[in-house]
Amino acid sequence: MQALINRKILLGVTGGIAAYKSAELVRLLVKAGAEVRVVMTPSAQEFVQPLTYQALSGHRVYIDLFDAEAESAMDHIELARWCDLLLVAPASADFIGKMCAGYADNLLLTLCLASKRPVAVAPAMNQQMFANPATQDNLNQLAGRGVMVWGPAAGEQACGDVGPGRMLEPGQLLDNVVLQFAPGKLQGVKLLLTAGPTREAIDPVRYISNRSSGKMGYALAQAALQAGAEVTLVSGPVSLNAPTGAELVAVESAQQMYEAVMQHASQADIFIGCAAVSDYRVDQVAANKIKKSTATMSLELTLNVDILAAVSGLDNRPFCVGFAAETQDLEKYALAKLEHKNLDMIAANRVGNNDSGFETDFNQLEVFWRDGHSSIERGSKSGVAKQLIDLIAERYTGAGS
Ligand code: PMT
Repeated sequence: MQALINRKILLGVTGGIAAYKSAELVRLLVKAGAEVRVVMTPSAQEFVQPLTYQALSGHRVYIDLFDAEAESAMDHIELARWCDLLLVAPASADFIGKMCAGYADNLLLTLCLASKRPVAVAPAMNQQMFANPATQDNLNQLAGRGVMVWGPAAGEQACGDVGPGRMLEPGQLLDNVVLQFAPGKLQGVKLLLTAGPTREAIDPVRYISNRSSGKMGYALAQAALQAGAEVTLVSGPVSLNAPTGAELVAVESAQQMYEAVMQHASQADIFIGCAAVSDYRVDQVAANKIKKSTATMSLELTLNVDILAAVSGLDNRPFCVGFAAETQDLEKYALAKLEHKNLDMIAANRVGNNDSGFETDFNQLEVFWRDGHSSIERGSKSGVAKQLIDLIAERYTGAGS
């Protein structure tokens, strides 16, 4: 199927070893029906000859900012207007830094400044360069300005290091491009989502929490955005960047999460409770650090409000999806929660000793609704999230009934 027919993709290639993979990306984009024009930075030519991209795209490759021939045919402003999407892959640390600072000293940087079209960057660099706060700040700033940051992936690098910094594979970049143009199953739907753990203070330096990393919830937020939803993400403390386009509401305790959710719930069409909310909080939070004095100590705990049940109890309630994290009797407990919390759907994950659920990058889900059930096989949280969002969209729109 040619998913990109009539789509115009401007592919920017910067100087990095991953430039060779972009040749394959051009081939895949053209095969999917896209019209592709390639712009190379001067240093990109140290890695791949322009002729390669020219042969694969069927068009001349743009390189020079001051190119009389190009200016007469299609000047850089026109090229910026021509595309439906400007994708820079690979995007080197140097290019990202200059793009962030608004430099325009080569054609590709000028196009990035001049384009009003959606822009995506696929970072590719040494893992240490990627981890450097300068690069992280630059990427966060670009993301904050609406630039889509695709990747990087983690793994073995050309320099021998291992870690995050590899450019996404051409097939993954193609999928992202296709998703950009796919009519979303949740187009215009307002989706409210909780993610991550909560922290219940014991004293000013200690708290009760759990192993939730937020990965599952953030993957759901990303998948929902890709399905066209307007996403509000109420998140406990995690070390993840919110997906571009999501409205992030950062909270710490279950009570704060409850208040943030209730502020947004009446405007939401769908609510997903993916956060691992602490069931109890400490009754009397100590004003000062508790000193070690006795051999044992007890903490009196008080039940927290159930956020999910509060949302599903609203008069004009959104479509409610809960999660159940169980170490045993998955189906029994999940069905009980579906019933007690008056939910439309529940996604149950087995947690404990297997490599899925809390903290890990993988999950597998048993999803239940009143008269049906579906299994989502073990896979990356982003893949699992996409399948769950598809299921939710089907149930929400009634297409799956
Ligand atoms: O964050 P990760 O490391 O990626 O891990 C993902 C996850 C395992 C945390 C996630 O997939 C998950 O299962 N989240 C729900 C965990 C949980 O708290 O389950 P529960 O069975 O205790 O709660 C059931 C449901 O009620 C959940 O939707 C929960 O958000 C909600 N709840 C619970 C207590 C409470 N006070 N308020 C709630 O809204």
